[in-house]
Amino acid sequence: MSPSRTVTTPLSAPEEQRRWRSRVLPALRGTVLDVGAGSGVCGATLDPNVQWLALEPRPRRRLVAAVRSRPHSRILDAPAEQVPLEDASIDAVICSTALCSVADPDRALAEIHRVLRPHGGFVFFEHVAAAPGTAARRVQGLAGPFTRCLDHGCDPCRDTATHIRRAGFASVELETLRTGGLVGRLVPVIRGRALR
Ligand SMILES: C[S@@+](CC[C@H](N)C(=O)[O-])C[C@H]1O[C@@H](n2cnc3c(N)ncnc32)[C@H](O)[C@@H]1O
Repeated sequence: MSPSRTVTTPLSAPEEQRRWRSRVLPALRGTVLDVGAGSGVCGATLDPNVQWLALEPRPRRRLVAAVRSRPHSRILDAPAEQVPLEDASIDAVICSTALCSVADPDRALAEIHRVLRPHGGFVFFEHVAAAPGTAARRVQGLAGPFTRCLDHGCDPCRDTATHIRRAGFASVELETLRTGGLVGRLVPVIRGRALR
């Protein structure tokens, strides 16, 4: 993957997200922190030997059941802005449509950077703000108050690529996806990997 490029795909964002999960997550090894784990959908694609730490400030029954079914795994009932882990203790971190929901993305990314071991990988798939001044951005602005209330605090107008690039990683590889369908035109997606 080049450091930064834009890719157009006929697939929808959820289809691309499923593909990303099945291509990227099974390769992760060691202790893996899943930020904003939700119902645990990322944990299901991890290698069985991985220790999955599902960070979720609102753990629901499905996540509890998913974590119980995996040996050595546990829920961290905490926000991404205050990760209850030692410095440099984690081999890889996942953010899958989570940085749109955290209250403070810079603080969350500082915590991700802190807990990753040197050369550890941060993999992400996030929907992001459309370009300023576009109709899509105006629609995102109108939708924001509703999605923040109804969808786990989700802010559709977040410039997550900028937050990731300024978080202090040694390298960042990032693709912007123009996905298919109406939602795809309204909601660009980024995916990539950063190394501590
Ligand atoms: C859109 S869901 C994504 C769930 C899952 N990662 C996935 O790929 O389907 C966003 C999740 O982030 C969680 N969340 C919200 N604020 C958070 C915070 N400050 N720290 C960590 N997670 C947070 C929400 O509770 C929700 O489960």
